Amino acid sequence: MDLYNRLEKELKIRKEDKLYNIIKILEGAQSDIVKINNKDFLNMCSNNYLGFANDPITVKAIKEAVDKYGVGPGAVRSISGSYSVHSEFERVLADFKKSEDALVVQSGFQANTGLIPTITTEEDLIISDELNHASIIDGIRLSKAKRAVYKHCDMEDLEKILKENSNKVNGNIFIITDGVFSMDGDIAPLDKISVLAKKYNAYSIVDDAHGEGVLGPNGQGSIAHFGLEGKIDIEVGTLSKAYGLVGGFICGKSVLIEYLKQKSRVFLFSSSLQTGICYAGIKIVKEMQKSNERIKKLWENTKHIQNKFIENGYSIGTTKTPITPFMVGEEAIATELTKILFEKQILVSPIIYPTVAKGKARIRLMISSLHSKEELDKVYKIITEEFEKIKTKGDK
Ligand SMILES: Cc1ncc(COP(=O)(O)O)c(C=O)c1O
Repeated sequence: MDLYNRLEKELKIRKEDKLYNIIKILEGAQSDIVKINNKDFLNMCSNNYLGFANDPITVKAIKEAVDKYGVGPGAVRSISGSYSVHSEFERVLADFKKSEDALVVQSGFQANTGLIPTITTEEDLIISDELNHASIIDGIRLSKAKRAVYKHCDMEDLEKILKENSNKVNGNIFIITDGVFSMDGDIAPLDKISVLAKKYNAYSIVDDAHGEGVLGPNGQGSIAHFGLEGKIDIEVGTLSKAYGLVGGFICGKSVLIEYLKQKSRVFLFSSSLQTGICYAGIKIVKEMQKSNERIKKLWENTKHIQNKFIENGYSIGTTKTPITPFMVGEEAIATELTKILFEKQILVSPIIYPTVAKGKARIRLMISSLHSKEELDKVYKIITEEFEKIKTKGDK
């Protein structure tokens, strides 16, 4: 079949299956309120957990950096695109994470695809949580290592796989997990994973995209939350969520970072992270170290809305973080509720099959330190009222 005919056909099926994603165009800055079609929408689907995306600290830093460094890095870092500000930010990140060294890359996605295939060989085995992020899955696909998947956060299943393979694998074994799972908001049991890794002589890797800025006393992330600094081998991170920027990083032993700088295709064949991001990143980490007021506000907001749901009998699944999945069950309810909320100028993301299992559809509400209690009360009132109306209509 002609390529374009095939693409059109597949897009048509997506529309018929109500899986077609209509991309909303924002007309202003990321905040608790965003502008779409010249109207103000309450923003309940941003990963801007701490409000740094449009904070004066970030904006001022980026402007200063543009004046100093210009914009484009001009080359990959191994040619002439490596600036002192890259190394400075890497030092700041490594110290913040209590890790020997760090490497910044262009995105969290690139961090996984730049790390996993680079450090693994065909002799190795990668054991991955079944709900890991797409970038981990793609990183594993690019690797030559053997692979196994353990049931979500199921330590018995993980141990079973480790037991079965520890004597068979000639190379190294890697256990890889998200720190916080983006669809459910639950936290990976890193304490147990690190014990199993030690017992079976495996290496642990955590991608903490949704734990950063959220967990740990100053937002250091899931590793600090469990007090496991130095006990998880490698941390992958993103700058695109709580840090309010765009970019990614890898933290670990100095020899690992040195190796990635020599061998990772993401480092060698893609231009470096924008200098302004590094400059702003330094200021943001320093701000997080100085004060945890934003994190406190984020958690106050989270408890405020999550307690209301729980006290009134609504399910928010297994979340332990600001990711708040308002469980609605049927896919059609999630789609209709999202549409109604949009008409009422509340922006949310429906999470439906195939992203989650059939019958486990939900509206994912992302809480930020920027939200006011009044805004959260409004979301609670409208989402629950409209959900009840849809359910009553369905019962008739
Ligand atoms: C666990 C995890 N890893 C990586 C990423 C990708 O991060 P970035 O947007 O910086 O590419 C995300 C973002 O959704 C994520 O949740």
